[in-house]
Amino acid sequence: MHNRRAALRLLAGTASLALTLSACGKDSEGSSQGSSNGNTVGIAMPTQASERWLTDGKSVVDDLTRKGYKTKLVYGNDNPKTQVAQIQDLIEQGVDALIIAAIDNKSMNGVVKQAAAAKIPVISYDRLILGTENVDYYVSFDNEQVGRLQAHYIIQELGLEDGKGPFNIELFAGSADDNNTKYFYDGAMRLLQPYLDSKKLVVRSGQTELDKVTTLRWDGPTAGKRMEGILADSYRSRTVDAVLSPYDGISLGVLSALKADGYGSAAKPLPVITGQDAELPSVKSIIAGQQSQTVYKDVRLLAEVAAEMVDAIFNDRTPRVNSRRAYNNGVKYVPAFLLQPTSVDKKNYDYVLVAGGYYTAAELK
Ligand code: GAL
Repeated sequence: MHNRRAALRLLAGTASLALTLSACGKDSEGSSQGSSNGNTVGIAMPTQASERWLTDGKSVVDDLTRKGYKTKLVYGNDNPKTQVAQIQDLIEQGVDALIIAAIDNKSMNGVVKQAAAAKIPVISYDRLILGTENVDYYVSFDNEQVGRLQAHYIIQELGLEDGKGPFNIELFAGSADDNNTKYFYDGAMRLLQPYLDSKKLVVRSGQTELDKVTTLRWDGPTAGKRMEGILADSYRSRTVDAVLSPYDGISLGVLSALKADGYGSAAKPLPVITGQDAELPSVKSIIAGQQSQTVYKDVRLLAEVAAEMVDAIFNDRTPRVNSRRAYNNGVKYVPAFLLQPTSVDKKNYDYVLVAGGYYTAAELK
């Protein structure tokens, strides 16, 4: 019932956002968009190795194309230097706006300065660019809420609110150079900390500080290696009951370390393990009863908001934002539009992901 209500809320939110976005895109002649005036938008995405960013890139291109814009889409191969060079290239090619999902949020200062000098507006996509005034808007999800949803799932599945425990938990975070990492981790830890304090949750590795639990470039195998080390050092005569994982790729890396250590049998069940992005391999893993949960973020909406922002800027309208003070990049508050994430597990994936049109039932087979 709870999941169904959440899914309905999600669908209602989606519908009203789509309405708001298309309403704010109406120009005086009543067409559903502004004028593209032949403008070209440069889109810099971080990596093709993760499925979600392929969907992001494709969705942004589709939305802008539908509005009459030309697009240039590049992927930075998870290498900050490559990405900076690509953006420089886009500026030299004369793009009129930039949508950037940064690999390293602090490496962008020089290149966005060049963009500002060329009067090219910059939209920070999903990951906030830090330490510069030259970022105009930010579009993302409520990133602390992502962490809260992951922690809440662990609390619920372990029965901590009913007084069960103590349980062993291990903690994983994303890439240290991604501004979202600390939002996810802080959001989760805010809910988990009381149980750590009361010792109903115990981190046997002792690794709880953010700088001890990050995973460079969100890499699954890197997280898997860390998990292997933790199992060898701290779990020889114990079992781990839960793993906080911030992202599906990390969850799958951790899962393979667990399986190699004999987890996944009736005698040694897999721990509760969270995730994020509802990537196809993870949704399949959830259906197979391995990964427990993921946080779904409809990146089609993220793309739509980014495209609307660009269209508004080119047509002298103020882009629609719903948060002016939540994200400070160290130099200024960046006006933002934040979308809501949804927790997905075995019970509601069908309703949220299939009925919501993110995947077909055949894709999940
Ligand atoms: C974050 C993003 C997450 C996940 C992660 C790894 O910036 O917010 O949804 O995709 O990167 O790609």
